[in-house]
Amino acid sequence: MLSYRHAFHAGNFADVFKHVLLVQLIRALHRKDKPFCVLDTHAGAGRYNLHSPPAQKNREFAGGIGQLWTEAGRLSPELADYVAQVRAFNPDSQLRVYPGSPRIARALLRPGDRLMLTELHPTEHAALKAEFANDRQVAVHHTDGYAALKALLPPPERRGLVLLDPAYELKDEFDRLLTAVQTLHRRWATGVIAVWYPILDRAPSLRWQQSLQKLAIPAMLCAELGLYPYDAPLGLHGTGMILINPPWKLDETLGRLLPELRQCLRVGDHGQTRLEWLTPAP
Ligand SMILES: C[S@@+](CC[C@H](N)C(=O)[O-])C[C@H]1O[C@@H](n2cnc3c(N)ncnc32)[C@H](O)[C@@H]1O
Repeated sequence: MLSYRHAFHAGNFADVFKHVLLVQLIRALHRKDKPFCVLDTHAGAGRYNLHSPPAQKNREFAGGIGQLWTEAGRLSPELADYVAQVRAFNPDSQLRVYPGSPRIARALLRPGDRLMLTELHPTEHAALKAEFANDRQVAVHHTDGYAALKALLPPPERRGLVLLDPAYELKDEFDRLLTAVQTLHRRWATGVIAVWYPILDRAPSLRWQQSLQKLAIPAMLCAELGLYPYDAPLGLHGTGMILINPPWKLDETLGRLLPELRQCLRVGDHGQTRLEWLTPAP
């Protein structure tokens, strides 16, 4: 039984981190003319109304996109690019709508590129299906994102990105991701893989990274942004992304963007960033 609803969290600091990276990953795919394909395995509803009761419950977006919304003139081109993607959904400059990863990815497709979306929750899937009705570049599947890796990949384009962004409702999510990364890399060794994770209790995410290292998949980069001390009591202390086959020089770009994000999103004097190759590029 799935109970997670992203509407409560849309636009929070973890979404900002994730979607800033997503924009950079897709922009890098534009460097070649050849078409690419994006698979978003845990797609959510596609867009979120920030005035809705779930979004207003804890107003998590205020500590995320809300912090960057009015800063556009002072941001680096990459963060300004991300904010511009959100602004495109809020043409009168009032922040009301937050685009999820499917909408952000769709906005960055060129005419020959494709987006595949999988979502298991019936309500979220129905919203997603309606969101992309009649869009011939987007395929929406009501299926398990992990199963889709085998069914949908490798894509005929042989270029592209897989975003794995689960809800971490299940105790074995890190184990599932480990298997998924292994399967995915065996099927499509050159695809870009991005796995988002929360930093709640620090130990499990570090143990998982050690297991990922043991898979001996080359070119595995870890990027993290922490806003709270990692030994603080319960809560979302930070967020991270594992990137396999990241685009050339993304590490340099993230070396600038992570401290900038930390500064924009800071809560008191805490906070830390981490950028580390878990396995080197060949
Ligand atoms: C963190 S949310 C996704 C947010 C979205 N990627 C974004 O950035 O806008 C995770 C989603 O995964 C869905 N989900 C959970 N388990 C799934 C599975 N096995 N396959 C596909 N979707 C799943 C949940 O219903 C939820 O909508």
